[in-house]
Amino acid sequence: MTLSIRQVGPCFAGEVTGIDLTKPLPSGVAQEIHDAMDEYAVLVFPNQNFTDETQIAFTEHLGQIEHSIGAGLRKPDEYRLSTHFADVSNLDKENKVYGREDRRRLFAIGNRLWHSDSSFKVVPAKYSLLHARAIPSKGGNTEFADMRTAYDALDHETKEHIDDMIAEHTQIHSRRSVGFEEFDEEERIRMAPVKQRLVRIHPSTGRKSLYLSSHAGRIDGVPVTEAMLLLKDLTEHATQREYVYSHKWRLHDLVIWDNRRTMHRARPFPENEPRDMRRTTVIGDGPTVEQQVA
Ligand code: OGA
Ligand code: MN
Repeated sequence: MTLSIRQVGPCFAGEVTGIDLTKPLPSGVAQEIHDAMDEYAVLVFPNQNFTDETQIAFTEHLGQIEHSIGAGLRKPDEYRLSTHFADVSNLDKENKVYGREDRRRLFAIGNRLWHSDSSFKVVPAKYSLLHARAIPSKGGNTEFADMRTAYDALDHETKEHIDDMIAEHTQIHSRRSVGFEEFDEEERIRMAPVKQRLVRIHPSTGRKSLYLSSHAGRIDGVPVTEAMLLLKDLTEHATQREYVYSHKWRLHDLVIWDNRRTMHRARPFPENEPRDMRRTTVIGDGPTVEQQVA
């Protein structure tokens, strides 16, 4: 056992010390991290002085990297980082802070809604690894909600009602919910809805979690208004403070979360200050709709 872990959240989330992830990983450590992820769902690793190359190398120890092509609104020639990264900064290609009205900024701050990464893709994300390269003077926390505890706390009737439901996810739903309405034809096609189970089973622990995300806006076989209200009610339930860990960033923190079992959201910060956060993402095992019903 190389890792030393201290729980920092209410029912999940741990801080890990005693390891430098920028160096080649000793054998067995990747497995230790997977095991710790299964236990804590969110792991904070302070003082990891990554470059893009070392962040990619570490991520590849944990699985296959999801490329960011086609997500968000940056055009191919507007990428600041290689496509191994989801650029969750507020910076353009010249490292300048986006103007307040910039369409790319307004789309990106949709991250302030509770979500699970890439739930709008047929094969959604497994882990996200977010590294802080520049942080604002205040604000900008990332909050995490434990969707396994939230599922467990539902009453039996609700569990039976939702266990086999299939929801439809698209970035168009999440952005519309905050008044971002304008999408051109190419974006509408690229952001076509995908289906995800509303309750998913974690492949390593066998435990059920709610699988919610701001991208979810419809449920198969349920009238739209009823579906939207159910999704709102479940999200309100799942994000009660007692299920939430709020991470206050320090420079060079790496935070890894399991998207199969948590939701997260960014919090506001002074809009003229740079916040350079770089995310690598480990792709999931397959579509959730193919998951075996327990
Ligand atoms: C992400 C994300 C939140 C933040 O990286 O997927 O939603 O606080 N980030 O930047
Ligand atoms: Mn995210």
